[in-house]
Amino acid sequence: METHDFIARYAGVYEHSPWVAERVAALATEVDNRERLAVLMADCVDNASTERQLALIRAHPDLAGRAQVAGELTAESTLEQASAGLDQCSPEEFERFQSLNTAYWEKFGFPFVMAVRGSDRAEILDTFAARLQNDYDLEFETALIEIHKIARLRLDAMGANE
Ligand code: GUN
Repeated sequence: METHDFIARYAGVYEHSPWVAERVAALATEVDNRERLAVLMADCVDNASTERQLALIRAHPDLAGRAQVAGELTAESTLEQASAGLDQCSPEEFERFQSLNTAYWEKFGFPFVMAVRGSDRAEILDTFAARLQNDYDLEFETALIEIHKIARLRLDAMGANE
């Protein structure tokens, strides 16, 4: 695949972070195995500087946040949030998400990231409240693990459309 086609195709696997696809493109554009591609992309993130990793985490919108309400999410995030019913919150659930989002940002300085596909709103809220009790290093590490899960799901969804 041509480098620019490769980058265009995989730029959205990591939210608002085309640099991951760009770096992998410099290594290999002939990766036809999704598993291998997922590993290369994940390695790229894991070997990036802490600043880049933090920027990647911060590139994620809040769950059930104002960007969702305003229709400003990426196509991928829109689907992920809708798959967990986050576009159907009751007013109480919506308020709960806003207060957790604020508390989480205040404590950690980045948004709560969770691969939400397959979970419902109650499970997500429980996990959110539990993770809010963690320390910074654990949440930073957990956010990256969740981001890799999201990337894997995005790659799998692309494969299904081939
Ligand atoms: N989990 C799956 N997609 C997203 C997203 O766009 N934002 C956050 N915070 N978590 C996610």
